[in-house]
Amino acid sequence: MQEDNVKTPSKLWAKPRSKWLLGIPIGAFLAFALGAIGLGTTNYVLHASSTTAFCYTCHSHENFIKPEYEASSHFANASGVRATCADCHLPHDNWFELVWTKMVVSLDVIPELAGKLDTAEKYEAHRADMAQTVWRHFKENDSKFCRSCHSIEAMDLAAQNRTSARRHSQAEENGQTCIDCHYGIVHKEPENATTLFDAIAAEFAEPSE
Ligand code: HEC
Ligand code: HEC
Ligand code: HEC
Ligand code: HEC
Repeated sequence: MQEDNVKTPSKLWAKPRSKWLLGIPIGAFLAFALGAIGLGTTNYVLHASSTTAFCYTCHSHENFIKPEYEASSHFANASGVRATCADCHLPHDNWFELVWTKMVVSLDVIPELAGKLDTAEKYEAHRADMAQTVWRHFKENDSKFCRSCHSIEAMDLAAQNRTSARRHSQAEENGQTCIDCHYGIVHKEPENATTLFDAIAAEFAEPSE
């Protein structure tokens, strides 16, 4: 019994009795090769659709998103580390979440073609709605996208001014996340940002007994 078991694997690769049996390894190889090409293409599409240039095909909006982003410290700073659109808006730690997000985002082709955001006036009219969607997302995921670059643990609190050092050292125990104190860092804040943000923060606050 034992001996047979040991021999089985090598038999599979031994010269097959019938040339038809060659089909098994060849089939397996073809399946693997096709799978690899398929995955390669998917990853290529995923990568190509994560560049700032791709976001600009719709969000080029010379008059609003671009100048706001390019004036922000996340576009250019003393350290020369740039945060791209995808760094702050797309998941990077979970392939399935990325694919899912892309499928949902591709539906934005419809409002885009309908010209939902094609002028500065229309953009302003929707800015608050869109910002609220993003804020909710950051509250839900504990500002995960910020944390792929920043972490409170890695902050040299002594090098920060006293107010920020105190806020950061207490943030965790107070249940506060980055977006609670740092919204509007790249884009212009929507009108009444404080009121709108506080309403979202209240939705997420633990009910006080
Ligand atoms: C096909 C055109 C198109 C492309 C490409 C595109 N967007 Fe959008 N995006 C839109 C439209 C239209 C909306 C408004 C959707 C709505 O509110 O109905 C939107 C909304 C958003 C919002 C607001 C939140 C929300 O879901 O409403 C964010 C953030 C965003 N896009 C980021 C990005 C990023 C980052 C990229 C590049 C990876 C990108 N978009 C590529 C058309 C596009
Ligand atoms: C791709 C990496 C990256 C991501 C993602 C990122 N940051 Fe930054 N952030 C930086 C760098 C680099 C600087 C500039 C550091 C310097 O040289 O001072 C910076 C600066 C800052 C500053 C200080 C300057 C300012 O504009 O006030 C704040 C606050 C900040 N980030 C908060 C955030 C928050 C909140 C998020 C999530 C919405 C975020 N960052 C996402 C890399 C990143
Ligand atoms: C309770 C409020 C609060 C929370 C929560 C908070 N911060 Fe801050 N942070 C501040 C204040 C206040 C400052 C100083 C003023 C400013 O730059 O906005 C600051 C400054 C900073 C700076 C600039 C530091 C410097 O000295 O150059 C960075 C970077 C930063 N915060 C990132 C973050 C990130 C990332 C998170 C989430 C992990 C976070 N903060 C959470 C209040 C907060
Ligand atoms: C450092 C992180 C960061 C970067 C980089 C960034 N965003 Fe955002 N984005 C945010 C946050 C946070 C919000 C929520 C509104 C706010 O706080 O300003 C937001 C909001 C938005 C909105 C909703 C409308 C609005 O004006 O609030 C759109 C659309 C958007 N981002 C697209 C983009 C595109 C396109 C790029 C690249 C050109 C980009 N973002 C770069 C963090 C970022």
